[in-house]
Amino acid sequence: MIAVVSPPRRITGEITVPGDKSVSHRALILSALAPGTSRIENLLKAQDCFSTVSCLRMLGAEINFLEDHVEVMGRGLRLKPPAGILNAGNSGTTARLLLGVLAGQPMVCRLKGDESLNRRPMKRVVDPLSRMGAEIQGKSGGDSLPLRIKGGSLEPLEYVMEVASAQVKSAILLAALFARGKTVVSEPAPTRDHTEKMLNLFGVSVEEKGNNRAIEGPASLKSTMVKVPGDISSAIFMAVAAVVIPGSEITIKDVGINPTRTGSLEILEEMGADISLLNHRWFGNEPVADLHVRGGRQLDGVTIEKNMIPRLVDEIPALSVAAMVARGKTEIKGAGELRVKETDRISALAREMGRLGAVVHQMPDGLILEGEQKLTGNICHSHGDHRLAMCLALAGLLAEGETSIKDFEVVNVSFPGFFQSLRDLLDF
Ligand code: S3P
Repeated sequence: MIAVVSPPRRITGEITVPGDKSVSHRALILSALAPGTSRIENLLKAQDCFSTVSCLRMLGAEINFLEDHVEVMGRGLRLKPPAGILNAGNSGTTARLLLGVLAGQPMVCRLKGDESLNRRPMKRVVDPLSRMGAEIQGKSGGDSLPLRIKGGSLEPLEYVMEVASAQVKSAILLAALFARGKTVVSEPAPTRDHTEKMLNLFGVSVEEKGNNRAIEGPASLKSTMVKVPGDISSAIFMAVAAVVIPGSEITIKDVGINPTRTGSLEILEEMGADISLLNHRWFGNEPVADLHVRGGRQLDGVTIEKNMIPRLVDEIPALSVAAMVARGKTEIKGAGELRVKETDRISALAREMGRLGAVVHQMPDGLILEGEQKLTGNICHSHGDHRLAMCLALAGLLAEGETSIKDFEVVNVSFPGFFQSLRDLLDF
């Protein structure tokens, strides 16, 4: 599908965005590991989560999509041997978190992904899980999918992570449920803590000391009810659209504002944007608020340092559009992880923004974006990356004339209905 975008007069209205992708994956996986019935409200119904659903069904969990919630009949810690190859599709979270679970299963499983996922690094989870006792084989010494994993009795592990990755931390914590003894994982910088929070919700205690997280295994889970907040990584596209178009005013309701995820809001505030968080409340143990955003303030370029990256890693494509209208340049440092996302986001972003006339310099592990850019509509490509597709749609709102984005249907990975939601907000 090709999406065509042109500049509106302004954007106004009130919306909700779909459920948080990270929280949805974890809700499904932990429900499958808890005996009995769990109930999930506002689960993200998008391709990445459907990949998790299909893997968990093959592993014996019963998952039913009912009118206003999803019901999961969990198996407890012992899953069923799957009849075929588990397919994580485009979803890095599905692949890496499931590897953590499969490491504890006394059976052989095979796991594959789509072309993009098969290129993404897996050694970061394969190494610690192998040290715990799982036998994992695959291409490039087990660094990429497809992988064969034989799990079984695991030893606890004390592990210092090299990359700040919530997926790696989560894979180890999930494997720790099956190990006899205390597993401790230490991260170089705080990453999203949804796994820890959700394990708590399912009755497992996770010890937190500084950047260390520990679980005493074996630990069993209790089925429960989860209400998934709106995804801040989706909301940010609408928020930035309102920020960069003068006269805009929108409210995005029920957005998750877990502090490990709100780096982008802090950066937009530092740039000078007018965003307020209203009506603070909780969905389970995840904080939620309504985002009220007004456009028209002059923004200033900023420097985003390495230690901030894990708190806004998925929001960099959206923030780069705010940087386009800012006074002065914006520099993003220490973000080498962007090169191993759904596509190499550093190179793809520079190239596709460049097609619209933006001056974006690539660094090995970051970007320098010139401000006050005059953009002109053109034909761009999503590179099969949902967040790049949405980012180009935002840039198209600022570009003179029409911007077409090819392979736009990839937004279904995290935000089905993105185009309609955006169109509903546009005033011409
Ligand atoms: C995610 C963690 C992040 C993020 C991804 C979702 C998660 O990846 O980019 O979209 O749900 O744990 P890393 O853990 O690799 O940084």
